[in-house]
Amino acid sequence: MTDHQARPTHGGNLAWAAAIAQCTPAELLDFSASINPFGLPPGAIAAIQAAIPQLGAYPDPNYGELRSALALHHNLDPNWILPGNGAAELLTWAARDLAAAAAVVLPVPAFADYWRALRAAGARVLPIAPVEPWVWDWSDWLDQDCQQYGLLLNNPHNPTGQLWDLDTLQPLCDRFGWVVIDEAFMDFLRPEHQPSAIALVSQCPNLIVIRSLTKFYAMPGLRLGYAIAQPDQLRRWQQWRDPWSVNSLAVVAAIACLQDQTFAEQTWNWLATARSELAAGLAARSGLRPFASAANYLLVQTALPSDQLQQHLLRSDRVLIRDCLSFPELGDRFLRVAVRHPAENQRLLQAVAQVTG
Ligand SMILES: Cc1ncc(COP(=O)(O)O)c(C=O)c1O
Repeated sequence: MTDHQARPTHGGNLAWAAAIAQCTPAELLDFSASINPFGLPPGAIAAIQAAIPQLGAYPDPNYGELRSALALHHNLDPNWILPGNGAAELLTWAARDLAAAAAVVLPVPAFADYWRALRAAGARVLPIAPVEPWVWDWSDWLDQDCQQYGLLLNNPHNPTGQLWDLDTLQPLCDRFGWVVIDEAFMDFLRPEHQPSAIALVSQCPNLIVIRSLTKFYAMPGLRLGYAIAQPDQLRRWQQWRDPWSVNSLAVVAAIACLQDQTFAEQTWNWLATARSELAAGLAARSGLRPFASAANYLLVQTALPSDQLQQHLLRSDRVLIRDCLSFPELGDRFLRVAVRHPAENQRLLQAVAQVTG
């Protein structure tokens, strides 16, 4: 198998990259998966250790304690929250609902897992390309009755980092028959700056918001996401699925994470400075153009093909960046990098400087 055949469609495929870099996965510096570099909060690690004896029992299928913790976090009633095995599980159920629409409008480039979930559900997809980087023109949709259509988008948008405000989202929720908004990266904004569609759920029975603890709390291996929607909608999903889709360790880790305000503050303080320094450093390299981002990653246009640059950085410096080949609309002239700690970002900039001059 050549490394091109095995090319991953998601970030963070360290086994694939380590084979190219000829090192162990632990020796790589990974900018391809956009995970908080502070790692899992210490309170979550302690909670996992303390919960090991509970592994002999099934989790509570109502996830009462977890739903209460999430409800407190968002100031909602627990019946409006359904935890899932990562946002990815909840996207599977969302796609099953969206498949009832005549077609699902999907701004592209789009996160690859949307295609997986929508195809599995047999949904018809209507991709909408941006009219300029990164602006999608909704005027045609707002001028018509689109009750028979569904809409799936993520905010902040992956891979561009663009953020929609509620003045844009609210009319779309009013027009479309079904709306799913994936806010997997929203926690990287301070609560007072989050244009979260959670604020619209009580007035929009057709709206589902999906959140994830994966990115902000650095727990992709634990798997924890949740949906926020009107209780009838969530009860339907609950009846479709495995009763214990969230494991007990993810439950206790999530509850501990949500209580850790120091971790959240530390993350917001780090990101504001580290992201602008990384963007400035990349913009200073010839042939690279980073776009403004509301999230913990930067999309970068590149004069050099991104897969060549990726292979070079792996072999020369064991640095892994995300090519964007799995986003067909972007092709080989874009790459995405996570924002990491300042010294790590410097290592990326130095490695890039060797190639771009
Ligand atoms: C936009 C977006 N939504 C959802 C997910 C999946 O999140 P989870 O790990 O909670 O399944 C990802 C992961 O990359 C993502 O980029």
